[in-house]
This record gives sequence, C-alpha cells and structure tokens, in this order.
Amino acid sequence: MFETLPAKQPDAILKLMMAYREDPRTDKLDLGVGIYKDANGATPVMKAVKSAEGQLLEEQDTKAYVGPLGSPAFNQRMIETVFGSEADKSRIRSAQAPGGSGALRILADLITSARPDATIWVSDPTWPNHLPLLSAAGAKLATYPYYDADNSSVSFDAMIDALKAAKPGDIVLLHGCCHNPTGADLTHEQWDQVTQLLIDQSLMPFVDVAYQGFGDGLEEDAWAIRSMADKLPEMLIAASCSKNLGLYRERVGAALLVGRNAAEADTALANLSGLIRSNYSMPPDHGAHVVEMVLVDDSYNANWREELEAMRVRMISLRHAFSDALRRRTNSDRFDFIAHQKGMFSRLPLNAEQIEKLRADNGIYIVGDGRINVAGLPDEESDMDALAAAIAAVL
Ligand code: LMR
Repeated sequence: MFETLPAKQPDAILKLMMAYREDPRTDKLDLGVGIYKDANGATPVMKAVKSAEGQLLEEQDTKAYVGPLGSPAFNQRMIETVFGSEADKSRIRSAQAPGGSGALRILADLITSARPDATIWVSDPTWPNHLPLLSAAGAKLATYPYYDADNSSVSFDAMIDALKAAKPGDIVLLHGCCHNPTGADLTHEQWDQVTQLLIDQSLMPFVDVAYQGFGDGLEEDAWAIRSMADKLPEMLIAASCSKNLGLYRERVGAALLVGRNAAEADTALANLSGLIRSNYSMPPDHGAHVVEMVLVDDSYNANWREELEAMRVRMISLRHAFSDALRRRTNSDRFDFIAHQKGMFSRLPLNAEQIEKLRADNGIYIVGDGRINVAGLPDEESDMDALAAAIAAVL
C-alpha cells in the first residue's frame, strides 16, 4: 500500500526546526519556529504552570476519561479568558481541544458538516499549516490579500475588495491578534469595517487566536473577538494555550463557538462533541487540567499574568532594539516597522537567497518567507548589532 503514497516534505517551519537542531555550530541563532525564548535562549516552564503541575501530581487521584468536550471548568475559564468575565455567556460554548491546531481542525470539521459548500477565506500570507489543516477537513479554500510587502503593512483595501467576492455563508479566517507570519494587525477601525462587511454579506468569522497576551495585553488582544461577538450572530474561535501558557508540547486549546441563541449553540456543541468522538474520542487531560488550575487559583493566576506580561514587554523591547540596530547598520528606516508590529513575528523584506546566505554563513535561521521569531532575538546589544550587521551585509 505505501508504494502508492507520494514523497512528502515537512512544511517550511518544521524543516527549519530540524535543520537548526542538526546544525553543530554553537553560535547559531534560531529565529524560526514560534516558541517563546528567554534571554538565555531557553523556553522554561512558566512558574505558575510548574506549581500547578506539582499540586496536580500530589492531588490527582484518577486518570479516568474526561469526555469528548473535556473539563467543564476548563471550558468555562477559557470562555472567560477569551470573551472577558463580563461577557454574556448564554450563547457561547467551548470544547477542550488538543492545541490550537486541534481546535482549528474540529471547527473546520463542524464547518464542512454544516455547510459543505462554504468556502473558507484565508489571509495571504498565513500560518503555513492553515491551508493543509483546513483542506484535510474537506474545506474549500480561497485567499484574500493581507500584506503589502513593499510597505510592510496590512493591504487593507485589497483585503476588503477580495472579501467582497465571498458568497453568503462563506467563512473568513482571521488572526485575532499578532498576525502570523507578518505581525501586522488590523486597527480597531479596520476590525469594525471587517465586521460590517461580514454582517452585510452574511459571512461568518472563524478567528484563530494563538497569541493572546503577546500583543497589546491579555484583555486588549481579545478586543476584536469581543467586539465581533457583540455584533455578529455566529462565530467560531480556535484558542491556543501553547504560547501564553508555554504548554506547547502538552497540546492545550479550546474550540469556542458563538451561536445565534442558547439552543443553537447547544446543538452546535453537541455536533462538535460527535465530531471529536469520531476523531480522537476525547482530548488529553494533563495540560488542560494545569491551565484550569492556573486560571481558577487567584495566586497562580496573578503569577501567570505577571510572567506573561514580562514576556510581552521583553518582546516589545527586543523589537525596538532590533529596529534601532538595523537603522544604524543599514542607514535607512526600512526596518522601522518592526518596532510597531505585534506579537511574536515580523517579516523581514529578504529574498530566499539572502535568507539562505544568513543561514549558511552566519548560522542565522529565518523562515523562508522572511518571518522572524522576535523572542529569539539576542538581548545583548553587541549580539543584536552583529545580527543587524549580518542582515545589512546580505542586502
Ligand atoms: C509557528 O508558527 O511557528 C508555531 O505556530 C509553531 C508551528 O506549529 O508551526
């Protein structure tokens, strides 16, 4: 049977992750895969997570199944984290999912079972795994332009023009904050315009929020979702705890949905539960259990928020230091945009050849489209300057 299968390559991010691991150089620099790194280049377990894990180890007295939708308390807390503690929860539902990707997939399954003819509109560019993930669920895909590479900013008019071609019932995948791979986010006014377009054309938002807390703050980064939920009848959200709780390998996320009313939200959740059951049956417990403990316990919660905020602030200061260093080294303002973009990523205006040269000559790993992980930038001024010099040299 296997002889019928085509040769298969991992995607650009996974490929780069493997190449970095295999590179024997000790002075290499990983600006590839989106994981937070501290000033020592490490990705430590967050303190509140570590404490909750210790407590869980002591106290947990069963490993019995959790059920397809996971823990009700976890789901409740995720709804509060994404929609705010004051939100009207009567028509919001949540299913615990194996990571943000698992949430995306089961929600895509829900879309294809409810509306097999709908097209999911995806930003160009987007996270490279969006397209295969959504296609694997059988979804029809189309793209809308999102990024103006010449000006390193959102190409908003082109985005709106493209979405005008969507037909009623189509779905629009949006990055709730910290756009991956560009770091270029919509302004509140632009979100309002997108929301109005969705209303006018009877389109449904499907929001991927994988970096809540990495942009403008935990509450601020949920602004667009909360605003849309107030105005639109229905909505889907894939939330991830990989980045903001540092639980990457534990696979924790939530598939959230907003229905027109409580009864329709319940029906949608029951269908989601059926799709989960026929796929992986039930989500893993450990990471989600820890998230639940961190969100429920006031002291863990405060500690987590503090650590997350410190990570966010550090990434902002790295953005400023990097754009300053590039301004000095290139004698131009063409990299100033890095200072003002949001979250973990920005896209450097470099071509494939320049990116490959940086890897080969300097051990600097950047995704092939120019995406850099801001958290991987060096804190030391001299190292930042050396990085800027290496980039200036390949321009
Ligand atoms: C990324 O964009 O680098 C992360 O979301 C990790 C991944 O799975 O691609």
